[in-house]
Amino acid sequence: MYTPTLVLTAAHCVDNLGTGPNTSVGVTWGVVDLQDPARTTRTSNYIHIAPGYNGNGRDWALIRISQPIDSPLLKLATDTSLHSGNFTVAGWGAATQGGPQQRFLLKADVPFITDTQCASAGGAYSGLIFDQEICAGNWASGGVDTCQGDSGGPMFKRNAANEWIQVGITSWGIGCAQPGNPGVYTEVRYFANDICSAAASLGGCQSSNGMAVGNPGNQTSTVGTAVSPVNHTAAGGTAPYTWSATGLPAGLSINSSTGLISGTPTSAGTFSVTVTARDSAVPAKTGSTSYTWTVSAAPTPGCSATNGTDVTIPDVSTVESTIAIAGCAGNASATSTVPVSIIHTYIGDLVVTLVAPDGTAYVLHNRTGGSADNINTTYTVNLSSEAANGTWRLRVQDAATGDVGRIDTWTLNLGGGSPACAGTNGTDVAIPDVSTVTSTIALSGCTGNASATSKVTVGIIHTFIGDLVVTLVAPDGSAYVLHNRTGGSADNINTTYTVDLSSEARNGTWSLRVQDAATADVGSIDSWTLSL
Ligand code: ARG
Repeated sequence: MYTPTLVLTAAHCVDNLGTGPNTSVGVTWGVVDLQDPARTTRTSNYIHIAPGYNGNGRDWALIRISQPIDSPLLKLATDTSLHSGNFTVAGWGAATQGGPQQRFLLKADVPFITDTQCASAGGAYSGLIFDQEICAGNWASGGVDTCQGDSGGPMFKRNAANEWIQVGITSWGIGCAQPGNPGVYTEVRYFANDICSAAASLGGCQSSNGMAVGNPGNQTSTVGTAVSPVNHTAAGGTAPYTWSATGLPAGLSINSSTGLISGTPTSAGTFSVTVTARDSAVPAKTGSTSYTWTVSAAPTPGCSATNGTDVTIPDVSTVESTIAIAGCAGNASATSTVPVSIIHTYIGDLVVTLVAPDGTAYVLHNRTGGSADNINTTYTVNLSSEAANGTWRLRVQDAATGDVGRIDTWTLNLGGGSPACAGTNGTDVAIPDVSTVTSTIALSGCTGNASATSKVTVGIIHTFIGDLVVTLVAPDGSAYVLHNRTGGSADNINTTYTVDLSSEARNGTWSLRVQDAATADVGSIDSWTLSL
């Protein structure tokens, strides 16, 4: 175990699986007998093969498991200071050349062999890569070795401080335990930095002092709904640990003595959370892990909602934005409408799909439009076979290299019909310092007055929202103040306001007026939506 969620192995053990998400590897931990009923088991969720691995050298890989294991960790050698004397090797591989795999773990001690002597064995050994490979075995007499099935296991020894240090990863040999044909091991110290950076991208590196925190995986939750508490595992240090976290969604906190994150999120967004454990040794050691916490907006009662939180679309990737619908009885309408605003410099790259709560996919845009910029389209979709309530997703796939962009805003009108009684203006309007700007939405073809629970979803980018007065102005000039210089130095407004507009006729030109009433900070109206 390199961290509570990462197993260090040999690249050639998992090479056929490739780098990427993978749930096909089973991990058995904590026992000598592979059939011990007390064994701990886990399933892989990602495999990372050493970049550039081609069967010659670079024989390391990381397997990430689905749930952390509260395991001791093996620290990696970072220099050659332990490249001498005897090493311990262990595994469930063959006990004799050509023999069967073992049910019970075996271990053995093998002496260090210099690269020069090892290469002098000839044959495959003459290709030995001195930096990347280290040899061990009884040169003259053989008789003790790793063998087929031991690959990926550690070669290790104690350092001066009596800690176990991993020096090698069982890699290859010609036959097993033959005199003059030693075992060859991946030289861990040469790859220690590469392994750490790969591990960091998988949720956390082992710190140089050997501590690490297990990664609980990316989290999703909803504004206003208590999260199921997320636990963390620290290993490689001296308990008790003191826990801290950065980047947590507002409303959540970490218990400093248990490492449990709990609470109820109060605002939507995507958060990069880093959780750190500090141990009780003197001097203290720390380890940390990072993951993404996505908080979606609370479902708005009714059959329409807007998600105005920007989601970046990296090159050649698939991203999603969600809208949760609650309190909309029955199925969606056969003329449901989906206004979509995507900023992208080459819309022929994009596949845009609406995914219903049950997983049914409705393709809205499929790589048409060539080099045109941006999608600002209201799609009419027959969703009459879909229950309206639940979490809907707008999935955007960028299917070709070169151009990137973002989901700006999208709206779901499952009651169908009149997109004319809802509108979005996704054109950015700069808010210069100490100024008043407006953005308009013109509605026609609606009937009657607006609802007493009309919704105004406002996305404003600004570095000090205590500067701002935000007002909805009806076609007849009536002003409804939505935000009046609250929020102090907080950044950005991403809020859906419910406004009683029952005395206002729907048709006409509505304005969002934004006044920046104090010097120093500026921003822009990103997008706003009116649902009458
Ligand atoms: N490549 C083998 C495996 O996949 C390990 C062979 C080790 N051989 C040796 N003579 N030390 O299990």
